[in-house]
Amino acid sequence: MEIRILDDHEAASRAAADLFVETSHRALERSGRFTVALAGGSTPKRAYELLASDPRWRAVPWDRTHVFFGDERMVEPDHELSNYRRAKEVLLDNVPLPKANIHRMRGELEPESAVNACEAELHSVFGPGVPEFDLVLLGMGADGHTASIFPGTRAVAESCLVTSVRPADVTPDVNRLTFCLPLLNNAARVVFLATGADKAQVLAKMRGTDTARHLFPAAMVNARETLLLTDQPI
Ligand code: 6PG
Repeated sequence: MEIRILDDHEAASRAAADLFVETSHRALERSGRFTVALAGGSTPKRAYELLASDPRWRAVPWDRTHVFFGDERMVEPDHELSNYRRAKEVLLDNVPLPKANIHRMRGELEPESAVNACEAELHSVFGPGVPEFDLVLLGMGADGHTASIFPGTRAVAESCLVTSVRPADVTPDVNRLTFCLPLLNNAARVVFLATGADKAQVLAKMRGTDTARHLFPAAMVNARETLLLTDQPI
């Protein structure tokens, strides 16, 4: 995992948006399309705003871009907790991305149906086998979780592509859908955006011994290229 320390949240958000643009161009040259999974949570909001603004929105081949989500809260798509709703408001509604290319996780369904629908959507775009995303954007919790793969839960060991989880003692207290590590680790590029003092401690521990690293699902992400952007001097 390559760690890049930026001056502040704004600089880290700009770096994430620039990597998004750069990866889209690399993907277009390689395959004629760009497949990306967006991160949930609050940290990426500024990066999404930058992607929906001049000059970056003009630089992304939105018409050949497919947007997925690395995890989702199991709520209606217009619920305030929905990662899809958050991305829709600041990014998806503000760029010329074909609606058919937005592949949201169906959090409003029962868990098993939602997992099956997500896997069917993945295979409809990628074909059989483990999808290879051009880019997966991820956040990180202060406990070292990423997407909705929380420490000590079965999601850490899942060999499937997508699973539903009911994390204990986590805010917000809702069921979740999440990409699993085999899918995350098959990406061409993963970019973590982890800013704010509340992430500093876990980031420092993640740079520690292998034993310490093993405690944190975020440290288990090992794609072909894994970058971590932070504003913390770890
Ligand atoms: C979610 C996210 C989750 C998030 C981290 C960090 O659905 O909440 O996918 O993994 O990225 O919890 O959240 P913040 O960016 O809000 O700190």
